[in-house]
Amino acid sequence: MLGAMSKPPPPAPAVPADAVPAVPAVPDGAAVSDMPAAPLPAEPSFLDKIMEQNPYFSAGAGLMGLGVALTALRTAGKLGATAARRRMLITLEMTSKDKSYPWFLEWMAAQSAHAREVPPSDRGLLGALRGRVTQLPSHELAVETNVKQHENGSSDAVFNLVPGPGTHYFSYMGHWFQVRRERDSKLMDLHSGTPWETLTLTGLSSSRTVLPSLLDEARALAERGSVGKTVVYTAWGVDWRPFGKPRSRREMGSVVLAEGVAERIERDIRAFLARGKWYAERGIPYRRGYMLYGPPGSGKTSFIQALAGSIGYNICLMNLAERGLTDDKLNHLLGLVPDRSIILLEDVDSAFTRRVQTSEDGYKSSVTFSGLLNALDGVASSEERIIFMTTNHAERLDPALIRPGRVDMKEVLDDAHGEQACRLYTKFYGHRVGENAPEDGQSPDPLLRSEHLSEDEISALGKQVGEVVDRARAEGRNVSMASLQGHFIRSGARESVAGVDALCVARA
Ligand SMILES: Nc1ncnc2c1ncn2[C@@H]1O[C@H](COP(=O)(O)OP(=O)(O)OP(=O)(O)O)[C@@H](O)[C@H]1O
Ligand SMILES: [Mg+2]
Repeated sequence: MLGAMSKPPPPAPAVPADAVPAVPAVPDGAAVSDMPAAPLPAEPSFLDKIMEQNPYFSAGAGLMGLGVALTALRTAGKLGATAARRRMLITLEMTSKDKSYPWFLEWMAAQSAHAREVPPSDRGLLGALRGRVTQLPSHELAVETNVKQHENGSSDAVFNLVPGPGTHYFSYMGHWFQVRRERDSKLMDLHSGTPWETLTLTGLSSSRTVLPSLLDEARALAERGSVGKTVVYTAWGVDWRPFGKPRSRREMGSVVLAEGVAERIERDIRAFLARGKWYAERGIPYRRGYMLYGPPGSGKTSFIQALAGSIGYNICLMNLAERGLTDDKLNHLLGLVPDRSIILLEDVDSAFTRRVQTSEDGYKSSVTFSGLLNALDGVASSEERIIFMTTNHAERLDPALIRPGRVDMKEVLDDAHGEQACRLYTKFYGHRVGENAPEDGQSPDPLLRSEHLSEDEISALGKQVGEVVDRARAEGRNVSMASLQGHFIRSGARESVAGVDALCVARA
């Protein structure tokens, strides 16, 4: 349109040169001084002359003025629209670094799963207008696959369809939002190795009030998945990240320790958790350290997992021998553990002994012993901190590491004692409460095949197993709880008794 306007105007009719009005001449003979001092008309400037005389120029100037006015109008329009948008719309940005990011995606996935349940006729725009669905069907999806491994070796895959990069629409409490998921192919999150992503929610200003409850709902939904479960966090760079899906809690009773050990540790930790105020009032750092030591397969890791589940805590697992872990990083990570988490440092001795042993092949752990001590003490941390350390070689530990304040409770978890082996046996083969012994004594599964034994028979056989283990112990031969467990899994109740003695071996 502007292009059409900037065309040169049609040529104006030629004006004869003599038609230009002449300046009135002074009458002859009149003295110049006698004339009244009439103001002389201002001499038109060269530019004025051109403008007045040249129709091309005057038309151009008009057009230019129009152009400027239109441009100004357009800019004002744009500014007005931006201002209106600013006043009427709100946007919320979430980056993939933020904790709400996966929660929100999961929430969206749950909404679209719900939307897929309504009849197809109610799914589209009409359905949304009629309030039948709270999300418009999306054509840009991404898949998140969870593989669940069963104990018998088989596995199930669950496919979670989440909104993929692109634009999506949903409503929450009657407010419609647009969601844009954008992936930056150039920026990477170096810790997780995933591309940097941003979610932008846009809604009307009035929707601002529902945003907090939307995020709360997303968080509650995400946490529902981990209720009754234990999340295991591992260090990802300088952050703690959940390692795999939350795991089902392990029953405390499933880890069979020597008489009274489990109860002692549990009582201590519960007392510690109940005394936060007491510590604060006395200005004592609110932390507690535990050291579990003993031979491999005695249940150290399993017990800590079960204990964490029992007190409703998660676990932050840290491997001190990890390459690239420095004193600074360790200190930083221990100061940043997620709420309600137990810090678990496994094999604390190996981080320092292995360095000496394998320095020839270039292995170097960069955590120093003093770095570990500093990290354990923390910088005057008043935050609650529970640290569990495990080792197979308590004798190799430096006294500085296990002094009170760093380690407040030490417990040995040893190879099986007779009484422990007996309890493990009855746990394995005994009938569950309310369950009858199965009729079928011919089942191919050794565990089921054995179950036609009565409770009395089971406890008599358990006693026998205990005696075998105690006798072997007296001769200096031991068996770990892990190898007893493996043996019981493989054999039936009766046959397993005979094989126990062969499992007991003298330790070097
Ligand atoms: N006391 C126990 N009661 C029941 N099961 C046990 C016990 N000890 C070990 N197990 C079983 O043995 C396996 C290994 O146990 P776990 O990993 O807890 O041993 P650990 O003491 O941490 O060994 P390591 O010192 O090698 O780390 C687990 O499957 C666990 O179920
Ligand atoms: Mg272990």
